[in-house]
Amino acid sequence: MKQKIDVRHQIVLSQVMLPAQANVAGNVHGGEIMKMMDAAAAAVAQRYSRGNCVTARVDELQFHLPIFVGALVTVTASIIYVGHTSMEVHVFVEAEDLESTSGPEKALSAQFTMVCMGKNGRPQTVPEYIPETETEKRLFEEAKAKREAMKQKRK
Ligand SMILES: CC(C)(COP(=O)(O)OP(=O)(O)OC[C@H]1O[C@@H](n2cnc3c(N)ncnc32)[C@H](O)[C@@H]1OP(=O)(O)O)[C@@H](O)C(=O)NCCC(=O)NCCS
Repeated sequence: MKQKIDVRHQIVLSQVMLPAQANVAGNVHGGEIMKMMDAAAAAVAQRYSRGNCVTARVDELQFHLPIFVGALVTVTASIIYVGHTSMEVHVFVEAEDLESTSGPEKALSAQFTMVCMGKNGRPQTVPEYIPETETEKRLFEEAKAKREAMKQKRK
């Protein structure tokens, strides 16, 4: 059975890809999709923390499939872990050829670290996140372990 994710921790953005976003062969530029992913990660972090959020880090960005002009691109951003002032946001992108019946396919994925900034320009504390479903708990523990490993590497 598909697990339900709390909508306060998730947002979905969709947009049809236009020629100005692509090269002459019709391939949509990676940066166009990355911009949508960043916007979605910022929006979900901002809604969760009710503060201004900036991107501190992007990990595991992968382009699984090409995206072409005319495709409907849907970006889903979900908060999976919250630290003191930062939030880990999993972002995945689906692309759908609207003239085909094959349905949406996973095209990109990445993990964003967003930091909530206070009016003084310094990171500010965000509300505690308590995962509830089995999926949320698993993603939380995985993100926590990755974050600890990354902190050790940065030291
Ligand atoms: C992100 C930023 C605010 C962190 O500043 P800082 O002085 O290192 O702040 P802190 O040490 O207090 O860290 C704040 C949080 O960010 C996290 N963090 C900081 N640098 C990080 C990095 N490189 N990767 C992952 N997390 C990071 C810390 O772990 C901490 O998380 P926690 O409070 O949940 O434990 C600062 O580096 C910055 O302003 N960067 C530019 C952000 C930006 O403008 N992005 C858009 C660019 S166009």
